[in-house]
Amino acid sequence: MLIDKNTLQKYDVAGPRYTSYPTAPQWSDEVTAQTYASVLKAFGQNDKTLSLYIHVPFCEQLCYFCACNKVIRAREEKVGDEFLEHLFTEMGLVAGFIGRRKLIRQLHWGGGTPTFLSEEQSEKLFTRIRSLFDIDFNEEIAIEIDPRTVTQNKLKVLRGLGFNRISMGVQDFDAKVQDDINRIQPYEQVAQVHRWCRDLNFKSVNYDLIYGLPYQTRETFKKTVDLVIGLRPDRIALYSFAYVPWLSKPQNKFNLQAIALHDEKLDIFIQSRENLLDHGYQAIAMDHFALTTDDMAKAFNQGLLYRNFMGYTLKPADEYLGLGPSAIGFLEKTYVQNVKVLPDYYDSLSKGRLPVERGKQLSPDDQVRQWVINSLMCGFKVDKGVFFDTFGYEFEDYFDQEHRHIRDCIEDGLLCEDPRRITVTDLGKIFIRNVCMGFDHYLRQKDGHRRFSRTV
Ligand SMILES: C[S@@+](CC[C@H](N)C(=O)[O-])C[C@H]1O[C@@H](n2cnc3c(N)ncnc32)[C@H](O)[C@@H]1O
Ligand code: SF4
Repeated sequence: MLIDKNTLQKYDVAGPRYTSYPTAPQWSDEVTAQTYASVLKAFGQNDKTLSLYIHVPFCEQLCYFCACNKVIRAREEKVGDEFLEHLFTEMGLVAGFIGRRKLIRQLHWGGGTPTFLSEEQSEKLFTRIRSLFDIDFNEEIAIEIDPRTVTQNKLKVLRGLGFNRISMGVQDFDAKVQDDINRIQPYEQVAQVHRWCRDLNFKSVNYDLIYGLPYQTRETFKKTVDLVIGLRPDRIALYSFAYVPWLSKPQNKFNLQAIALHDEKLDIFIQSRENLLDHGYQAIAMDHFALTTDDMAKAFNQGLLYRNFMGYTLKPADEYLGLGPSAIGFLEKTYVQNVKVLPDYYDSLSKGRLPVERGKQLSPDDQVRQWVINSLMCGFKVDKGVFFDTFGYEFEDYFDQEHRHIRDCIEDGLLCEDPRRITVTDLGKIFIRNVCMGFDHYLRQKDGHRRFSRTV
């Protein structure tokens, strides 16, 4: 695919990843513990099912690139015990407000590193979830693991509990890059964990890779991708390095000169994308790849892909619930985020309060724009007829002000339009965040672009 340098320059700006709309900077303390309690009660009145996310924030060592919400601790039983005690209080409060057993159709333990918990602690947590909710074991039950610290026995215990999907951080195999990001993880270690997962029959194994890390070049990253292809994970998330040193202070350690920017970074992405496509992977939306046998590829091909705080996902459930520090939920058209700082999370729960920090109740306009942005991010099109059926407005009338943006995208080869729909082109898929930004009401406001990583 040829990308014109002017197009690249024009669209290489800071922008959201649209794991939510409105995006997190628009959330505020208008959503309180009280709001959340009423949202949970309303959820208890209907038959909607649940996607449950549990955030375990601990890691044993800091990766300098990491922009996740994590807490570095030596692995000690008491750290996990103290955490579980508070998490169980939160679960009890939440289940109490819901007031009935709900069906979990997607379960995800993320972090940090959820396998920081011992085998016994993991069993205890799983048992507690089952005591309050029903779980559909035919759907995705996923956990994030760190291949440097997980053991074969722990994987065996997790499989026994019912986990069927593994996601592991691989990032990059190059020794110099690994040294610079403070994450030494040789190929053989990943290959070993991969074999354990296969022997235990996990249905899907995902690797996270990051392009744009310091000291990465086209050549070194090609070697990483070649090695990954050799191992054949079912899914690959190929993330663009989010360089946000104002949020993630350890990123300030990086030598700016060593970070690939702009067209070099894009070249690394395009080269990797082509390599994966040549080797049996299908491109799923923006930054995911999957073997055609994997459920994510099937969902994408059937137009059933969704997007939430974990990125792209299958959506077998109606509503999202997040537990643990910084976890996010979306229920009854309301985003709710827990406090991020661990002592604050503990403090709130010790006092028997839901640890809510902020959120957003969607206005009617937010709901319309959320729908359009989701359609673009997940299905790469907006069907004007379905839009009319859903909201009762003609697409052209509602988005009169966005007409100019749509025209620009068409002229730059990012979109095509016919009377029935707008469709994202292959080039537009790479710049999909930019396409969506034109529909984001809040970016029109002063300083709207400042708080995000770059889109490419
Ligand atoms: C919670 S971690 C994965 C599990 C485990 N902690 C590990 O690292 O192996 C989630 C993923 O987020 C991605 N990530 C973290 N910081 C990032 C950044 N600044 N830019 C892009 N991706 C990032 C990494 O690929 C990482 O594997
Ligand atoms: S990448 Fe994973 S292991 Fe590394 S600091 Fe982030 S969450 Fe922890």
